Amino acid sequence: GETLRALAQRHGLYVGTAVNMDALQDPAESRYRELASTEFNTVTAENVMKWEALQKEKNGPYDFTEADKLIDFARKNRQKVRGHVLVWHNQVPEWLGKGVKDGSISKTELRAILERHVKTVVSHFRGKIWQWDVVNEAVTDPWDSPPSGITYRPTPAAGAGDNQVFWADHLGPGYIADAFRWARSADPQALLFYNDYNLEAFGDEGPMDKVQFVYNMTKNLRAQGVPIDGVGSQGHLSTQYGNYSAFQIRDALDKFAGLGVATAYTEVDVRSQRTPAVEAGDTKEINPRLQGSAFNYSALLQGCLMSRKCLSFTVWGFTDRYQWTNDWEFGGEGRTGLAAIYDTNYNPKHAYQSMRADL
Ligand code: XIL
Repeated sequence: GETLRALAQRHGLYVGTAVNMDALQDPAESRYRELASTEFNTVTAENVMKWEALQKEKNGPYDFTEADKLIDFARKNRQKVRGHVLVWHNQVPEWLGKGVKDGSISKTELRAILERHVKTVVSHFRGKIWQWDVVNEAVTDPWDSPPSGITYRPTPAAGAGDNQVFWADHLGPGYIADAFRWARSADPQALLFYNDYNLEAFGDEGPMDKVQFVYNMTKNLRAQGVPIDGVGSQGHLSTQYGNYSAFQIRDALDKFAGLGVATAYTEVDVRSQRTPAVEAGDTKEINPRLQGSAFNYSALLQGCLMSRKCLSFTVWGFTDRYQWTNDWEFGGEGRTGLAAIYDTNYNPKHAYQSMRADL
């Protein structure tokens, strides 16, 4: 049958996956390479473009070896690359997290360090990145927001780990506009995105409406002339709490498009509840989960297809063999090996079939 990439191409849509560089280079994983190249026409580095992967020492050199291998793979396979990620609170180098925590890095120095990071990385890949996730997950969720509502993500009371920096606490929310301007100056061609999760649908949660906060933020940035070209909706869903209709998805994407920005689904996967029966492989419990997962992949993809400015649809790992939700608890929804569109043996699942049907 035809591949997702061939089908998506007819719609002018790019369909992508996050790539695990260990799997990609494992001699035993030829099937991984084959599917990554034939089924998708855009790729994202799952981890190797993150700051902690690039600069191990303060003021030290950047090591782009692994990231460049992905760029090379994409070039050979005529795939576009989403750059992920420039500014995030997670997966920053230990020296940076420590320095911020113990105060040995001042605010002035921190701003200069961030500017240098953004410019160094964007310049290195200049001309090779289609969409950059410039700022990732900068705002709170309803469950960790003050009573006044969603806000720029502050350092949690319990204290951050050494591989975390909560930028707004140290630089103020203006770091977001700065980051976009620095990125634009280093590569004027790349589309610059704000990327976050729980943006699927606008609700009536008032000050606790995260997507409304991100919408307002985007609108303000555009009004100030900040070079933000797109909003990425990660799309990490669960069959327990997700379940949006394709029209809700479309409406949310259209609303962002109304601000003059492009959109994309950037990290789609669908978790399911783990129960003893699921762990034991009981098909009576697993089948409804597989169908629920397929429903959610389908709703997001259909919503994206219906919205004119939705440029790409990327899954966060295409196989349960290498899928990050298997490494985390997610309140009983992780570790199921059910979240991707191919199973652990690279057999296409219902979710894959419904994506094909939608395309
Ligand atoms: C995840 C990776 O998939 C994991 O391998 C890593 O251990 C942690 O980060 N939102 C993002 C991604 O923007 O970068 C995250 O990727 C998943 C959540």
